[in-house]
Amino acid sequence: MSSVASTNPLSIAEQQRLRELAQAAAANSYSPYSHFRVGAALLLTDGSIVSGCNVENCSYRLTSCAEQVAIARAVSERGPGIRLRAVAVANLNGAASMPCGACRQTLSEFGDDDLLILYPGETGAHESTTLGALLPHAFRMQYLDPK
Ligand code: THU
Repeated sequence: MSSVASTNPLSIAEQQRLRELAQAAAANSYSPYSHFRVGAALLLTDGSIVSGCNVENCSYRLTSCAEQVAIARAVSERGPGIRLRAVAVANLNGAASMPCGACRQTLSEFGDDDLLILYPGETGAHESTTLGALLPHAFRMQYLDPK
Protein backbone atom coordinates (compact mmCIF):
# COMPACT_ATOMS: atom_id res chain seq x y z
CA MET A 1 0.00 0.00 0.00
CA SER A 2 1.34 3.36 -0.94
CA SER A 3 0.78 6.80 0.49
CA VAL A 4 -0.65 8.07 -2.77
CA ALA A 5 -1.39 5.64 -5.57
CA SER A 6 -0.33 6.80 -9.03
CA THR A 7 -3.85 6.19 -10.34
CA ASN A 8 -5.41 8.03 -7.46
CA PRO A 9 -8.21 10.21 -8.93
CA LEU A 10 -8.24 12.65 -6.01
CA SER A 11 -5.88 15.57 -5.70
CA ILE A 12 -3.74 15.85 -2.60
CA ALA A 13 -5.90 18.79 -1.51
CA GLU A 14 -9.10 16.76 -1.93
CA GLN A 15 -7.60 13.90 0.06
CA GLN A 16 -6.50 16.25 2.79
CA ARG A 17 -9.97 17.80 2.97
CA LEU A 18 -11.60 14.37 3.29
CA ARG A 19 -9.17 13.35 6.02
CA GLU A 20 -9.88 16.59 7.88
CA LEU A 21 -13.63 16.04 7.72
CA ALA A 22 -13.21 12.50 9.06
CA GLN A 23 -11.09 13.88 11.88
CA ALA A 24 -13.71 16.54 12.63
CA ALA A 25 -16.47 13.92 12.72
CA ALA A 26 -14.49 11.93 15.28
CA ALA A 27 -14.91 14.80 17.72
CA ASN A 28 -18.58 13.78 18.09
CA SER A 29 -17.77 10.12 18.77
CA TYR A 30 -19.86 8.42 21.43
CA SER A 31 -17.31 5.94 22.75
CA PRO A 32 -17.47 5.74 26.55
CA TYR A 33 -16.36 2.09 26.52
CA SER A 34 -13.44 1.89 24.11
CA HIS A 35 -12.54 5.59 24.21
CA PHE A 36 -11.53 5.03 20.59
CA ARG A 37 -12.89 8.08 18.79
CA VAL A 38 -13.40 7.37 15.12
CA GLY A 39 -14.70 9.48 12.24
CA ALA A 40 -15.40 8.68 8.62
CA ALA A 41 -16.03 10.95 5.65
CA LEU A 42 -17.54 9.62 2.44
CA LEU A 43 -16.98 11.34 -0.90
CA LEU A 44 -19.94 10.41 -3.07
CA THR A 45 -19.82 10.27 -6.85
CA ASP A 46 -22.02 13.38 -6.99
CA GLY A 47 -19.23 15.28 -5.23
CA SER A 48 -20.98 15.64 -1.90
CA ILE A 49 -19.40 14.57 1.39
CA VAL A 50 -21.17 12.85 4.28
CA SER A 51 -19.50 12.08 7.58
CA GLY A 52 -20.19 9.98 10.66
CA CYS A 53 -18.67 8.86 13.94
CA ASN A 54 -18.77 5.67 15.96
CA VAL A 55 -21.69 5.25 18.35
CA GLU A 56 -21.19 2.67 21.08
CA ASN A 57 -23.70 0.91 23.30
CA CYS A 58 -23.54 -0.69 26.75
CA SER A 59 -24.61 -3.85 24.95
CA TYR A 60 -21.24 -3.80 23.27
CA ARG A 61 -22.12 -5.69 20.09
CA LEU A 62 -24.67 -3.03 19.17
CA THR A 63 -21.91 -0.53 18.53
CA SER A 64 -22.00 1.18 15.14
CA CYS A 65 -18.72 1.98 13.45
CA ALA A 66 -18.12 5.43 12.02
CA GLU A 67 -18.17 4.12 8.46
CA GLN A 68 -21.53 2.42 8.99
CA VAL A 69 -23.02 5.54 10.56
CA ALA A 70 -21.80 7.63 7.63
CA ILE A 71 -23.28 5.18 5.12
CA ALA A 72 -26.64 5.12 6.93
CA ARG A 73 -26.65 8.89 7.05
CA ALA A 74 -25.77 9.19 3.35
CA VAL A 75 -28.57 6.84 2.31
CA SER A 76 -31.01 8.56 4.64
CA GLU A 77 -30.18 12.01 3.34
CA ARG A 78 -29.55 11.26 -0.35
CA GLY A 79 -31.40 8.08 -1.14
CA PRO A 80 -30.62 4.48 -2.09
CA GLY A 81 -28.74 5.36 -5.28
CA ILE A 82 -25.60 6.71 -3.59
CA ARG A 83 -22.23 5.50 -4.85
CA LEU A 84 -18.89 6.03 -3.15
CA ARG A 85 -15.81 7.55 -4.72
CA ALA A 86 -13.57 7.73 -1.66
CA VAL A 87 -13.69 7.20 2.08
CA ALA A 88 -11.45 8.68 4.75
CA VAL A 89 -11.25 7.29 8.26
CA ALA A 90 -9.56 9.02 11.18
CA ASN A 91 -9.33 8.76 14.91
CA LEU A 92 -8.43 11.08 17.75
CA ASN A 93 -6.29 8.45 19.48
CA GLY A 94 -3.23 8.84 17.31
CA ALA A 95 -3.62 5.24 16.23
CA ALA A 96 -3.31 3.48 12.93
CA SER A 97 -6.75 2.34 11.79
CA MET A 98 -8.52 1.19 8.70
CA PRO A 99 -12.08 -0.04 8.14
CA CYS A 100 -12.85 -3.24 10.06
CA GLY A 101 -14.08 -6.33 8.24
CA ALA A 102 -17.74 -5.52 8.75
CA CYS A 103 -17.21 -1.98 7.47
CA ARG A 104 -15.43 -3.28 4.39
CA GLN A 105 -18.51 -5.33 3.55
CA THR A 106 -20.78 -2.35 4.26
CA LEU A 107 -18.68 -0.14 1.99
CA SER A 108 -18.75 -2.78 -0.77
CA GLU A 109 -22.52 -2.40 -1.00
CA PHE A 110 -22.03 1.15 -2.31
CA GLY A 111 -18.51 1.13 -3.73
CA ASP A 112 -16.54 -0.71 -6.38
CA ASP A 113 -13.16 -2.41 -6.03
CA ASP A 114 -11.40 0.85 -6.96
CA LEU A 115 -13.02 2.77 -4.09
CA LEU A 116 -10.24 4.83 -2.55
CA ILE A 117 -9.70 4.34 1.19
CA LEU A 118 -7.68 6.94 3.10
CA TYR A 119 -6.54 5.96 6.56
CA PRO A 120 -3.90 6.73 9.19
CA GLY A 121 -1.08 4.24 9.13
CA GLU A 122 1.61 3.38 11.62
CA THR A 123 3.51 6.45 12.88
CA GLY A 124 0.65 8.66 11.68
CA ALA A 125 1.49 8.37 8.00
CA HIS A 126 -1.25 9.23 5.52
CA GLU A 127 -1.89 5.90 3.84
CA SER A 128 -4.25 4.92 1.05
CA THR A 129 -5.49 1.73 -0.51
CA THR A 130 -8.56 0.45 -2.32
CA LEU A 131 -11.57 -1.51 -1.22
CA GLY A 132 -10.59 -4.27 -3.63
CA ALA A 133 -7.27 -4.64 -1.82
CA LEU A 134 -8.93 -4.73 1.61
CA LEU A 135 -11.80 -7.03 0.63
CA PRO A 136 -10.93 -9.20 -2.36
CA HIS A 137 -13.67 -11.49 -3.65
CA ALA A 138 -16.35 -9.53 -1.80
CA PHE A 139 -19.82 -11.01 -1.53
CA ARG A 140 -21.90 -8.80 -3.80
CA MET A 141 -25.58 -8.52 -4.62
CA GLN A 142 -25.11 -10.23 -7.98
CA TYR A 143 -24.60 -13.51 -6.14
CA LEU A 144 -28.16 -13.37 -4.83
CA ASP A 145 -29.51 -13.76 -8.36
CA PRO A 146 -27.32 -16.29 -10.19
CA LYS A 147 -27.91 -16.71 -13.90
N1 THU B 1 -14.55 1.40 14.95
C1 THU B 1 -15.00 2.16 13.92
O1 THU B 1 -15.74 3.12 14.12
N2 THU B 1 -14.61 1.84 12.66
C2 THU B 1 -13.80 0.78 12.35
O2 THU B 1 -13.62 0.49 11.18
C3 THU B 1 -13.13 0.06 13.41
C4 THU B 1 -13.68 0.25 14.77
C5 THU B 1 -14.97 1.72 16.30
C6 THU B 1 -15.92 0.73 16.90
C7 THU B 1 -15.70 0.93 18.38
O3 THU B 1 -16.56 1.98 18.80
C8 THU B 1 -14.27 1.41 18.48
O4 THU B 1 -13.87 1.77 17.17
C9 THU B 1 -13.31 0.36 19.00
O5 THU B 1 -13.41 -0.81 18.28
